[in-house]
Amino acid sequence: MDKFVIHGGKPLSGTVRISGAKNASLALMPATILAPGTFSLLNTPTLRDITTMARLLESMGVKTSHSNHTMTIDSSRIAHYEAPYEHVKKMRASIYVLGPLLGRYGRAKVSMPGGCAWGPRPVNLHLEGMKKLGAEIDLEGGYIVAKAKKLKGARILFDVSSVGATGNVLMAAVLADGASIIENAAIEPEITALAEFLQSMGAEIHGIGTSKLEIDGVESLHARNATTIPDRIEAGTFLVAGAIAGKKKGNVRLEQCSPDHLAAVIAKLGGAGAKVNSGKDFIEIQPPESINSVDASTAIYPGFPTDMQAQWIALMSLANGTCVVTDTIYHDRFMHVPELNRLGADVTVRDNTATVIGGPRLTGAKVMSTDLRASASLILAGLAAEGTTEVLRVYHLDRGYESIEKKLQLLGADIERVKGEEF
Ligand code: UD1
Repeated sequence: MDKFVIHGGKPLSGTVRISGAKNASLALMPATILAPGTFSLLNTPTLRDITTMARLLESMGVKTSHSNHTMTIDSSRIAHYEAPYEHVKKMRASIYVLGPLLGRYGRAKVSMPGGCAWGPRPVNLHLEGMKKLGAEIDLEGGYIVAKAKKLKGARILFDVSSVGATGNVLMAAVLADGASIIENAAIEPEITALAEFLQSMGAEIHGIGTSKLEIDGVESLHARNATTIPDRIEAGTFLVAGAIAGKKKGNVRLEQCSPDHLAAVIAKLGGAGAKVNSGKDFIEIQPPESINSVDASTAIYPGFPTDMQAQWIALMSLANGTCVVTDTIYHDRFMHVPELNRLGADVTVRDNTATVIGGPRLTGAKVMSTDLRASASLILAGLAAEGTTEVLRVYHLDRGYESIEKKLQLLGADIERVKGEEF
């Protein structure tokens, strides 16, 4: 396992290009199961989760190749309808094959995803949605076994707004007999991107971008190409890098990003004292003279994303006051806190709320990555810390950040990846 060694305190400035969104690609790729043919998905990031999804599709008989950020997928022949444990245990988004397999073939066997590093992550809404569409669902030997002669349109009202359940049920419903309505649908940009892709393939979907999706099932869909939207969480992470370690005179500039998808994060950064300018597809940030403490509470889109909570706590650790950061989506998602405290942060967690007492400095130490966004927060803290920080087990980062160390080096950070087994 590799580690990152960071010599903190180097001021960052310059330009970074934002990659395609992991969570959008992870939905577009399985959607190709819905139609036979060859698809080109442009701007697909080079990430471990993307490779895992490609391997999973290949295990079913789909052909994939990924070069120069274009994922080519040939879904003409699908021989197996199964997502085995070996893939699902690596990545929960593997469950995204359930809806398209059921929609097109009327059968699917998907290993039940377990919990994750920060607690339980149920899939009940995915299963209830499929049942509403007429699928028979059994749990056998750790697998979800789903069958349906032909799915039938239905009204599905989600108790909780879920990105994954919305995407999965949408992919199942587009080939069902008759009309479906998904209420309290997720409106995250990745779901909008998926719905637009399905529409380009011939699906009839109304209300895209709203919490009520109306779908008229069609007989068949056609292979189409798509361009993956920019990764708003990667962009948000680099904005926090600019705020926490930016040069007082000299911006960090993000290109190929979607400022519209980051309104909540940009507003919080403004509150913290950073100067943020944006245009159609770029954002520039200048760090504050002194970081103001700003409370944050995660919420579904367009609220402050749970995937930015850990990075926000890292920034607030260097603020000039005390604030509270609440995670309303994942109540236990605070694995980064004890590690940030090893760097000198003063954060206590009670229930789903972290109280962050800001301070003038962090100091380098060895810290352990526990999950993707926790790892990002440790890197951000390491960039600002005095001395040397070693972030161990960076394979979590490779799941979701493309060449993060190279992008940070371009901004002037002193960070290097050290290859090794024993970290
Ligand atoms: C997606 C993102 C993840 C992000 C999360 C919330 C992908 C691949 N991952 O995850 O990065 O952190 O959205 O923005 O896109 N829930 C249930 N039952 C279910 C499903 C979800 O109770 O069947 C609950 C969850 O426990 C959570 C909430 O719904 O409290 C939202 O989770 P959800 O939107 O489903 O997250 P994911 O799609 O897994």
